Amino acid sequence: MKNIEVSACLGEPTEPANIVILGAGGDLTKRKLIPSLIKMLRCGLLHSESRVIGVLKGRSREGWLDALHQGMLDYAPDIKINDQQWSEFTAMCSMVDGDLQEEKTYQDLEAALEPIHGVTNAVFYCAVPPRWYTTIAGGLHRLGLAHEDNGFRRVVIEKPFGMNLESAQQLNRELQELLNESQIYRIDHYLGKESVQNLLVYRFSNSILEPLWNRNFIDHIQISAAESIGIEYRANYYEKSGALRDMIQSHLMQVMTLVAMEPPVEFTADAVRDEKIKVLRAVRQIETENIKNQAVAAQYGSGHIDDESIKAYVAEDGVSVDSVAETFAGVRFHIDNWRWQGVPFILWTGKRLPERVSEIVIRFRKPPFNLFDTHSNPPLPNSLVFRLHPDEGIALRMNAKMPGLTTDTQRMVMRAPYSENGEDVSDAYEVLLHDVLTGDATLFSRADEVEESWSIIEPILNAWKDRISVERYRSGTWDVPGMDALFEDCEGGWHKPS
Ligand SMILES: NC(=O)c1ccc[n+]([C@@H]2O[C@H](COP(=O)([O-])OP(=O)(O)OC[C@H]3O[C@@H](n4cnc5c(N)ncnc54)[C@H](OP(=O)(O)O)[C@@H]3O)[C@@H](O)[C@H]2O)c1
Repeated sequence: MKNIEVSACLGEPTEPANIVILGAGGDLTKRKLIPSLIKMLRCGLLHSESRVIGVLKGRSREGWLDALHQGMLDYAPDIKINDQQWSEFTAMCSMVDGDLQEEKTYQDLEAALEPIHGVTNAVFYCAVPPRWYTTIAGGLHRLGLAHEDNGFRRVVIEKPFGMNLESAQQLNRELQELLNESQIYRIDHYLGKESVQNLLVYRFSNSILEPLWNRNFIDHIQISAAESIGIEYRANYYEKSGALRDMIQSHLMQVMTLVAMEPPVEFTADAVRDEKIKVLRAVRQIETENIKNQAVAAQYGSGHIDDESIKAYVAEDGVSVDSVAETFAGVRFHIDNWRWQGVPFILWTGKRLPERVSEIVIRFRKPPFNLFDTHSNPPLPNSLVFRLHPDEGIALRMNAKMPGLTTDTQRMVMRAPYSENGEDVSDAYEVLLHDVLTGDATLFSRADEVEESWSIIEPILNAWKDRISVERYRSGTWDVPGMDALFEDCEGGWHKPS
């Protein structure tokens, strides 16, 4: 790997390890894992003596590597890897051909693990549907591949971690019988975003925010993930999941815990996660009779986005014509603790909206007395916006005087992008793979967090499961029924990103 351009990145170098990808023929591997490993290698964050071992069935090593190379061209064209660099990377790669149900696959995997300088570190990345997690953990356990007697052994799993509280508890129980909790890395790629981590740095390294960060100054908080794409090839999953499970229970509730948590005593995995779980435990249980006022479900109909004609969700391949799955969900949470009493946290997400934008909007209270309220342009409440995607950065929305002989106000936005002049912002998977290799679990969900977040949304799931109809919104619009009502008493109302 000597010839691959090495541009130093900030970050702790990793120990050499066997990086085992189970399900290495799938979409996640070629779309995210391989491009991230190559970028880490380029900038010296992945040890060049590491090995990448793909476990997949029914393919030759050449066929597998060709598919990965095509994936680099399709999904990571910016990396611009040349033939020589590619062949240097592939020299690190080996393959185990086998079915995950068969014992022989794990025996072959054991033989493929290489000690590097006498130590056999291994990360087992489960890039497979969740139904395989326990099978894989069982295979590793039976052959002793998860024993940490000569190097670390870590297992990475992707969401969904269950489909409701009961199945999440069952998955946790089964995994914890086979692995130590400290070996399980539940990945949430949202937490790997540079901008999400920056939220913690902003909160806990600046003294001006903390005095404002509470019910005395903040009116409400909005955390959103708007997408303009539809369900793409995921109809099968989405029909069972819907937007509430897919985005709110996992990514957006995790972000909410980072926004709302108290300062941890130190920046370590358990200290941070101890504070996050306290937030989840303080979320007020949503009573059945309040669900219609606190939760919105809707589904996209046909419409237009950027002059492209969009078909309705129910006309998508693989979707039932009478499907009531929600492609938009919004929930209003309350956190019953000293800091946040009376401050609504409104989390929302949707597909086929006009923009692809993810933000945290901290909306402040009105000034106690407003001198300019009677003007033709009355001032608007201040907002601090953390943009998670795209154009990661922060923006502070203030009121300023209109130029000229008037005291009318106008909106002024102070923007601070995280990267300027084309600087590279790391992809979430690079950050999280690096964290797994260095053993930093801060940005990974602990079993208790996963269960607590399921228990919070369980009443909504129960209320929605037998519904026979769902509201519709036109693709490419913000006309989502019920959303304005969710913000009825909130300063400035629903912030529609632009
Ligand atoms: N794709 C993404 O961008 C993305 C993003 C976030 C999270 N995820 C999560 O990542 C995980 C993997 O997703 P994916 O999109 O990569 O799925 P995928 O494209 O369906 O890939 C899964 C892989 O697992 C293999 N597999 C299934 N059963 C197997 C068995 N019995 N033995 C050996 N191999 C087996 C499949 O092989 P065959 O093709 O031969 O069946 C396939 O190559 C899922 O949990 C998903 O929710 C994916």
